[in-house]
Amino acid sequence: MSRSPRYVRALLGLIFALTGVDGALSAQGAAQDHPGQYSAADIETGSRLYAGQCALCHGTNGETVAGVDLRRGQFRRAVSDEDIAAVIASGIPTAGMPGFRFQSSEVDGLVAFIRAGFDVSGTAVKVGHAGKGRAVFEGKGQCGTCHRVNGNGPRVAPDLSDIGAIRTPAALQRSLLDPTSAMLPINRPVRAVTRDGRTIRGRRLNEDTFTVQLIDEQEQLVSLNKADLRELEVAASSPMPSFAVTLTADEQADLLAYLLSMKGL
Ligand code: HEC
Ligand code: HEC
Repeated sequence: MSRSPRYVRALLGLIFALTGVDGALSAQGAAQDHPGQYSAADIETGSRLYAGQCALCHGTNGETVAGVDLRRGQFRRAVSDEDIAAVIASGIPTAGMPGFRFQSSEVDGLVAFIRAGFDVSGTAVKVGHAGKGRAVFEGKGQCGTCHRVNGNGPRVAPDLSDIGAIRTPAALQRSLLDPTSAMLPINRPVRAVTRDGRTIRGRRLNEDTFTVQLIDEQEQLVSLNKADLRELEVAASSPMPSFAVTLTADEQADLLAYLLSMKGL
């Protein structure tokens, strides 16, 4: 890849991030409900039903059935919200879970409570279809122009191959809507100028008192001695664009499902 398109993209990203974030925040402020999230009332409904119908087997903290941790969103098979709804409706007779006859608002409530991490004052993010999310990732979202997945794609942005194993749905949604506020300090973009006048830009991977390691724009791992640098600048805003406006709520939910399904090879 040449240098300039990535620069242009990063710059666009910055602009998107700044404008998109404002939009997302004011929308959230205006109405409690975000299109990509369940309402507080849904979570409340689910909390009540869970205590009465599910806690007996799954425990108050959702972790008493082996291989399943409902509070943390760890399932054996389910990925999407529809998958969870289907399990609730049909049960898993061979494993001893009965099917339940709930109204759809009650099922929404249970899913919301699970997605909120059992926190009635928490955020319950909607999770759509991983298959559709993959199409958004590779198509409209252009995520693969920066991110690497299972050995494919550039290294300028963090490798997402196991992102579903290490991040919650709420954290992933925040990365999509407001990348700067979700950015881990270690991932911050750096610009270094050496004493002999070379400028190196990249994504920080590691830093200690004397050195800083980064992935530069040629995707090379670079280790710099701070003593050799004239300038070292660490940016506070993410080069990733916000997708709050450019993707619909459904596309965001599908992307989340795809990201959650990435659990390494
Ligand atoms: C009689 C015990 C029992 C009750 C009651 C019960 N479950 Fe389960 N549930 C299980 C067992 C056992 C499994 C694990 C099945 C397996 O091994 O895959 C399970 C699995 C699940 C899964 C995980 C599916 C996956 O892909 O891993 C979800 C989600 C779930 N239950 C939700 C609920 C909800 C919500 C309720 C209440 C409406 C509920 N369960 C009530 C026993 C129960
Ligand atoms: C212009 C390049 C670029 C594009 C396009 C881009 N990202 Fe990013 N993304 C980054 C960079 C750089 C970071 C690391 C800094 C940060 O966290 O904001 C990042 C961080 C992330 C993170 C957080 C990683 C973590 O460890 O928590 C997720 C999740 C993510 N991106 C998903 C996506 C998805 C999904 C898309 C497509 C809809 C996308 N990104 C598009 C550059 C990009």
